[in-house]
Amino acid sequence: MHVHPYERTWIIISVALMMVFGVAIVISSLSLGIEIPGLSARLAPVVADGLASDEPWVRELGPGRYEANVFAQMWAFQPTEIRVPAGSTVTFYLHSRDLIHGYKILDTNVNLMAVPGQVNKVTATFDRPGEYLIVCTEYCGVGHQAMFGRLIVEEPNALL
Ligand code: CUA
Repeated sequence: MHVHPYERTWIIISVALMMVFGVAIVISSLSLGIEIPGLSARLAPVVADGLASDEPWVRELGPGRYEANVFAQMWAFQPTEIRVPAGSTVTFYLHSRDLIHGYKILDTNVNLMAVPGQVNKVTATFDRPGEYLIVCTEYCGVGHQAMFGRLIVEEPNALL
């Protein structure tokens, strides 16, 4: 089969680029710990462990360590507002009550998908005081653009 030299050149460039992107995805996912939701986080019909609970909450595990059990549903997050002191490490457990939503805390690395029947988990440390907008990043219906929450990272002495 005859392939025109220009076409051959572009085929080679395209395949090389795809390989570069593939390697970049593998390296970044390994080094940053990015992974797709796995069977390990799938909810059993009866929820027995501390990983999942029907109620939204934020709790302090110890000095500077928090856990947040977050629910996404059309078209709100619960809890709507999360407050922690600066320097805190927060583990988020994210659930969906209906369909797929996103959970992106702007200006941070927290960016999860809320998948029905699945608990997604991420741990992040928030050093910079301020108010962070949390937005839904998956189109989820007519109220999608109004689906947001807030993370408030307070100056450490503001809580004294
Ligand atoms: Cu929830 Cu978009």
